[in-house]
Amino acid sequence: MTPTMQNLSTEKKTPSENPEIDRRRAFAIIAHPDAGKTTLTEKLLLYGGAIQLAGHVRARKDRKTTRSDWMAMEKERGISVTTAALQFEYNGYRLNLLDTPGHEDFSEDTYRTLMAVDCAVMLLDASRGVETQTIKLFHVCRERGIPIVTFMNKMDRPAKDPFVLMDEVEKTLGITAVPMLWPMGSGEDFRGVYDLTKDLVYRYDRVAGGSFRAPEKTGGIDDPELESIMGEELCATFREGVELARGALPRFDSEIFLKGMITPVFFGSAITNFGVQLFLDSFLELSPSPAGLPLTDGTTLDPRSPQFSAFVFKLQANMNQKHRDRVAFVRITSGVFERGMSVNVPRLGKQVRLSSPVAFFGQERSTIDNAYPGDIIGLINPGLYRIGDVLCTGEPPAYRPLPVFAPEIFARLIPTDTQKLKQFRKGVQELSEEGVVQVFSTAEGLPVIGAVGQLQFDLFRFRLEDEYGAPCRLENLGYECSRWIREEDRNKFSSYDLIIRDEHNRPVVLFKSEYRMRNFVQNNANIQLFEHPPENSD
Ligand code: G4P
Repeated sequence: MTPTMQNLSTEKKTPSENPEIDRRRAFAIIAHPDAGKTTLTEKLLLYGGAIQLAGHVRARKDRKTTRSDWMAMEKERGISVTTAALQFEYNGYRLNLLDTPGHEDFSEDTYRTLMAVDCAVMLLDASRGVETQTIKLFHVCRERGIPIVTFMNKMDRPAKDPFVLMDEVEKTLGITAVPMLWPMGSGEDFRGVYDLTKDLVYRYDRVAGGSFRAPEKTGGIDDPELESIMGEELCATFREGVELARGALPRFDSEIFLKGMITPVFFGSAITNFGVQLFLDSFLELSPSPAGLPLTDGTTLDPRSPQFSAFVFKLQANMNQKHRDRVAFVRITSGVFERGMSVNVPRLGKQVRLSSPVAFFGQERSTIDNAYPGDIIGLINPGLYRIGDVLCTGEPPAYRPLPVFAPEIFARLIPTDTQKLKQFRKGVQELSEEGVVQVFSTAEGLPVIGAVGQLQFDLFRFRLEDEYGAPCRLENLGYECSRWIREEDRNKFSSYDLIIRDEHNRPVVLFKSEYRMRNFVQNNANIQLFEHPPENSD
């Protein structure tokens, strides 16, 4: 199929049957630490009028201390260091921005959160290109086939050539990059962006200390004023770049994009607020409205169906330690949520009344009365829900379970108080059910825990001791990746690799390194490795 350039502004939208659903967007920003996710989020919130300028500047200045205080407190109390969702309005849209933490707080929750969004913004630092954490997160989105929009940030710093960046995205991530904006210079010379779909140049003025909305001027690409602003040489390079981008690079096609096969690319600078609003406007127009609940037959339950459905994608131990309650983060997938409604929890085979739902704005909560597909709500409940639970009215649909992700760090789990073995077993069982870590066992029957980030281990150890009174020691096993395998293949690995079993007794192989795993795959084309448990071995 040859992609064709579409004029976004004239693209027809199907008439809305349910404006509350159509105006919702649930998305996440995937980025390597320091690419500017916090900065971009703050700018998006500013457009949504969710934070005031004065407050924003102060908050930004204070952010480091506030955040680290919060993290210390959370660590002490053993709860996860994430804000879950930010909800705000912009231009008639209702945005649900889900947090995918990076840094040391990276965990399986991060992956699961990507199961609850309908599209992702891939944020890259334009001076660094595609970095490791981005690759991991991109991979999870790719597997789901959700659309991914790319924002090349920090163009106000000396950046890689835009063609090199596009090429890097294609080569490293295997997705076709389609430019929507083209940058006018970079670093000190960054003057603005050219909108390839609207044929318009957007020039910005820098404002000291960053800006709320950078002053903007629009014009054509042949505007003689551009030479005087950019200098003749830069202007010529810019115009040549635009011509080349137009002629040589693939064009945008909404259908292919929605299948997750191309990524539209925007250039800008979050800190100076160059190109952010253009990006936001296009993103909202391009991105899909909420998808329904995935079913086992490969279809989805229509979000417009009157049947209410939602699923739990994250649990967070609450701050109220005495009650040991948890917040279950729930993504609504169909029907309308009303406070006080009763729903089925098919796993438990019982009805639950949803009496205290909350909406989130970072750490702040407010009680909500109604919510629609695409929205994220929090349910406060003492240990009732598990990750992947579906809540619904009426006959439970045949829903597809949330995937389990292959851990990347492993440790032997050793109880250090032999008087507390009963509590130890109960704690390990409950915490693994809650999705804090995954539990495996060695051939000798010794327990091993696995996670995708160190935070999960810290949290697990803390909660096991704090909530169950069962202290433990973790001995890192020194393996870096894992894959589920078929039972008949378990003897085909060298002693260099370790075979363990998951809690359903399915064999899992651990490799010392990604390199070792790749090597194995190259030399053993007949042995299948699975990133998620193969369904037929359940
Ligand atoms: P993160 O959440 O992805 O980790 O990134 P964050 O927004 O915290 O940004 C990381 C650093 O990059 C910050 O600098 C931030 O100011 C800077 N940054 C973000 N966007 C841009 C941009 O468009 N251009 C430039 N030049 N810098 C940008 P810092 O010095 O670590 O923190 P701060 O002192 O500025 O808060």
